Amino acid sequence: MLKIKNLEKIFYRGTPNENIAINKIDLTVNEGDFITIVGSNGAGKSTLLNSIAGVFPVENGTIILDNEDITKKTEYKCAQKIGRVFQNPLAGTSPEMTIEENLSLAISKSNNLSLKWGLSKHKREIMRKHLEKIDLGLEKRLTTKVKLLSGGQRQALTLLMATVANPRLLLLDEHTAALDPATAIKIKNLTAELVNENNITTLMITHNMEDAIKMGNRLIMMDGGKIIYDIPAAEKADLTIEKLLKMFEIKHGGKFNNDRMLLSV
Ligand SMILES: Nc1ncnc2c1ncn2[C@@H]1O[C@H](COP(=O)(O)OP(=O)(O)O)[C@@H](O)[C@H]1O
Ligand SMILES: [Mg+2]
Repeated sequence: MLKIKNLEKIFYRGTPNENIAINKIDLTVNEGDFITIVGSNGAGKSTLLNSIAGVFPVENGTIILDNEDITKKTEYKCAQKIGRVFQNPLAGTSPEMTIEENLSLAISKSNNLSLKWGLSKHKREIMRKHLEKIDLGLEKRLTTKVKLLSGGQRQALTLLMATVANPRLLLLDEHTAALDPATAIKIKNLTAELVNENNITTLMITHNMEDAIKMGNRLIMMDGGKIIYDIPAAEKADLTIEKLLKMFEIKHGGKFNNDRMLLSV
C-alpha cells in the first residue's frame, strides 16, 4: 500500500555541510504491516517518516501511497491520509481547546467534514466511548482544556485522535520516549490495541530494542541513511537484543552508537 523507490534526502546540498540523510532507500509496506524501526543516532529514521509525511521536498525518488504519487504533496495534504504522533506530548493537541473540541476535530477529519464544530449529543457519546477505551478517566472530562492534562494523558489523546481519524498510515516517532516508564507502558499497550483493532498500517520508530522486537510484525534497522535489515515476522520471533546488536555491528563495522537505546536495553 506504500511503495518507496530510490528515496534520497540531502540536507545542505552543495555546501560543505552536505548531509545525505536518506541514501537511496527502497521500501514496500504491505496493508496492515506494523513495522518497528530502530537504528543509530542520525541514521535517518525521523527523516524517512518526515519525507513520507511531506514535511520537506526530497531530492530523488518516489513515494506512492494507495497507488497515488504523494512525493510532492505538502505536509497539510498528506495529513488527510497520514496520522502522526511525535515524542513531544505537547505537539499533537491544541492546549487552549477542550478534550471534546480536539477529538471532535479529529473525527471530523475522518469524515471529511472539514472543521465541523457541531457537538451533538450523539457525537459526545461516540467521543466518550473512544475515551473510555484509553482508561484514563478522560471520558468524564470532555470540557477540560487540554493544557491541564499530564504528558501521558495528552499523548494518549493524541494517539486516539490520530487513530479515530482513520488514517491509511500511522507514523510514530519515539512517541513514548518522553514519558515516565509506567505511562510509557500504558501508551505502548494502547498503541498496540488501537493499531490492531483498526488494522492500521503503522511505522513506529523506537529507541527501545525490546519493544521493537516485541511489537509489530516486521522490524527495520537503519544506519547511515540506509535500511540495513528488514526482518519479517517469522525471523523476528527468534530475535533477541543481543542478536540484533550483533547484526548491527556486522553491517556497520563498529559498535552501536545510540546511547539512549543502549541505556534502555
Ligand atoms: N531538518 C533538518 N535539517 C538539517 N539536517 C537534518 C534535519 N533533520 C535531520 N537532519 C540530519 O539528517 C540526519 C538524519 O537525522 P534523523 O533522521 O533525525 O536521524 P534519526 O531520527 O535516525 O536519529 C542527521 O545527520 C541530522 O542531523
Ligand atoms: Mg529521530
